[in-house]
Amino acid sequence: MNTNKIAPSLLAADFANLQRDMEMVNQSEADWFHLDIMDGVFVPNISFGMPVMKAMAKHAKKPLDVHLMIVDPDRYIQTFADLGAEVLTVHYEACTHLHRTLQAIKAAGMKAGVALNPHTSVQLLEDTLADIDLVCVMSVNPGFGGQSFIENTYEKVKALKAMIQQKNSGALIEIDGGVNDKNAAALVAAGADVLVAGSFVFKSESPSDTIATLKKQIG
Ligand code: DX5
Ligand code: ZN
Repeated sequence: MNTNKIAPSLLAADFANLQRDMEMVNQSEADWFHLDIMDGVFVPNISFGMPVMKAMAKHAKKPLDVHLMIVDPDRYIQTFADLGAEVLTVHYEACTHLHRTLQAIKAAGMKAGVALNPHTSVQLLEDTLADIDLVCVMSVNPGFGGQSFIENTYEKVKALKAMIQQKNSGALIEIDGGVNDKNAAALVAAGADVLVAGSFVFKSESPSDTIATLKKQIG
């Protein structure tokens, strides 16, 4: 059975037609909604916050995969649980007490994800892997959609996959940034389980067909 997932990033959707774009994802072969929350401090951009996510959640018929690109994410764990996040991902670089943060996310009833910036080594997760449900390997520097894929990601995914197997962890590997039909299959072959795709999906002529194409490629 195909367990590999596609998570369209709504950052690339038309914000004036969010309901329309969310219905497209609902009807498509996509697995999750990927929601990017940026605070203008951890990353040099501001996306959208709680009121917008609340409006989006009303229309989502698939799990919400929430990627927090914010400093001090601990302050908002309960808020995102209340908003309906199924997976809550925090950045390794934003957490002084990552182990505590992961426990708090799980205690709030969500799956706990950790995102790694391109410069952050996967080895740094060795001591927390048992507590992690998802590792989001950033394949661009976070903050913007539409950037080019960083090729070093393949090596990171392979190393992380080996670590996950060695530790008998159930953590999923998610790739975020610059995903398209040129790298999707190779990423899954390297060990990825979830591919986030923003621009490639929403800027295409038929987003729903593009999702279907990606799904087929990662079969
Ligand atoms: C980048 C975000 C990504 C972004 C991906 O900071 O975390 O989720 O939306 O967009 P594309 O697929 O356009 O690189
Ligand atoms: Zn993201």
